[in-house]
Amino acid sequence: MMDFKTLAGDRYATKKYDPSKKISNELVAQLKEILRLSPSSINSQPWRFTFVSDQKLKEELAPFSFHNASKLKDASHIVVFSVIDNLEKFESENIASLPEGAIAYYNNNIKPGSEEQIKAWMAHQVYLALGFFLSGAASLGIDSTPMEGVNAAEYDRVLGLKDHKTLFAVALGYRDPDDFNQPSLKPKSRIDIDKVIYSI
Ligand SMILES: Cc1cc2nc3c(=O)[nH]c(=O)nc-3n(C[C@H](O)[C@H](O)[C@H](O)COP(=O)(O)O)c2cc1C
Repeated sequence: MMDFKTLAGDRYATKKYDPSKKISNELVAQLKEILRLSPSSINSQPWRFTFVSDQKLKEELAPFSFHNASKLKDASHIVVFSVIDNLEKFESENIASLPEGAIAYYNNNIKPGSEEQIKAWMAHQVYLALGFFLSGAASLGIDSTPMEGVNAAEYDRVLGLKDHKTLFAVALGYRDPDDFNQPSLKPKSRIDIDKVIYSI
């Protein structure tokens, strides 16, 4: 298995997928389990992940995906990451079943905030699952694209989400061999290490 630093250098935001290549059921099952295992603050897990493989449904979402429309059409799967939008449900279903210490942390440090602050805290957990997921997909040899460029309200409508709100989506599949964005054709661009990492 490839070491993690090599994976980090090799994964990239895929811009063009090979529409003829689909992810096997076995790997899809592994991707689902990786998402389920994502860490979150106090193990609050305020999320829902919707896997879309049906071509018609992907094409229905494409017009609400801005510059990402072709990824919706060509990628094997789209995973829509949504956050719980019903605080009452979140507290009774997610928080109430946690260990006492976690509940106390929530009641003392999160719950007193405004609704907007609580929802921002929940969304942070979903973004964390994104980072975890992109690495997990790469470890299975699957290409991916995180996509904030989606119309969240339209995604909610098309997917019929009620107590959850779309935050972003991830396209998954296998790259078109000519995808210009792959690291072998376009070297990774990052800020110099001594500008972002400090050792004291
Ligand atoms: C939260 C998030 C949202 C993003 N949204 C999009 C998007 O809508 N479309 C797209 O092509 N790339 C999107 N990207 C990809 C970034 O542009 C990309 O990760 C960044 O430029 C670094 O390049 P690399 O991932 O290829 O290393 C997004 C990345 C993140 C983390």
